[in-house]
Amino acid sequence: MIVNAARMLRAAKEGHYAVGHFNTNNLEWTKAILLTAQKMNAPVIISCSEGAGKYMGGFKVVAAMVRALDESLGITVPVAIHLDHGTYEGAKKCIEAGFSSIMFDGSSLPFEENLAKTKELVNLAHDKGLSIEAEVGAIGGTEDGITADGEVADPEECRKIVDLGVDFLAAGIGNIHGIYPENWTGLHFDALEKINKATGNIPLVLHGGTGIPDDQIVKAIKGGISKINVNTDCQLVFAEATQEYCKAGKADPSAANKEKGYDPRKLLKPGYEAICKKVEEKIRLFGSEGKANY
Ligand code: 13P
Repeated sequence: MIVNAARMLRAAKEGHYAVGHFNTNNLEWTKAILLTAQKMNAPVIISCSEGAGKYMGGFKVVAAMVRALDESLGITVPVAIHLDHGTYEGAKKCIEAGFSSIMFDGSSLPFEENLAKTKELVNLAHDKGLSIEAEVGAIGGTEDGITADGEVADPEECRKIVDLGVDFLAAGIGNIHGIYPENWTGLHFDALEKINKATGNIPLVLHGGTGIPDDQIVKAIKGGISKINVNTDCQLVFAEATQEYCKAGKADPSAANKEKGYDPRKLLKPGYEAICKKVEEKIRLFGSEGKANY
């Protein structure tokens, strides 16, 4: 069931758990996320970056694919189709393309410009029934070619952007996209506490969910995080499982390979199953298993 993400995240905040946001890259990814959420009776957010949207042929393709799979697979748990780290133009396109939720990432803009553009998009998104995530303080790491250090957001800026009516907020607390450097010092829980107080209980978003130790994830949820973004973790397990399959010679095109393991439906299966397992593990860790009926 396709919904916007506002109510599911408010319920998560009240219930002290977090909803998993999983980035999709293709049909296998989308199917894995949908069927695992359904199996676990968990609300879920399927997200797409601008780069992944382009890769899949455009935002309309992504929205249509998620909606069609949701219907054909008989998915009854709440599913949001969300734009990840959208530009101003990208966010507008997704509103028209059939997404149910957008993120506008104006964190690299001067703050006043971030405020003005976020405000405009809040109105556009809400007019069409979409939820909207905003961002303050660049999150660290590299995603779609954009690199930033693990920043910590200013609580006062967070309050100002939340006052515009955004539904949930990504605020840097030392988190980084991708694999964390060995000398990473961990999440800034003091900053989380200040941001949570300043923003009056709005659901907060933790980007860079890959590689954060489980105990810090649990502590972050207790501190007000209600949505956790995971991308790299699924990519890593998909690549590893596919590599193992190929290394074992199962995709070998020789006549001796009677199983015809080069058939993409077989070649991509171990990676698909690895994503299902990873998504299940994360949903359990985030505490959203069984929370479909909020
Ligand atoms: P990871 O790639 O580190 O899991 O982060 C994903 C993310 O934050 C998407 O916005």
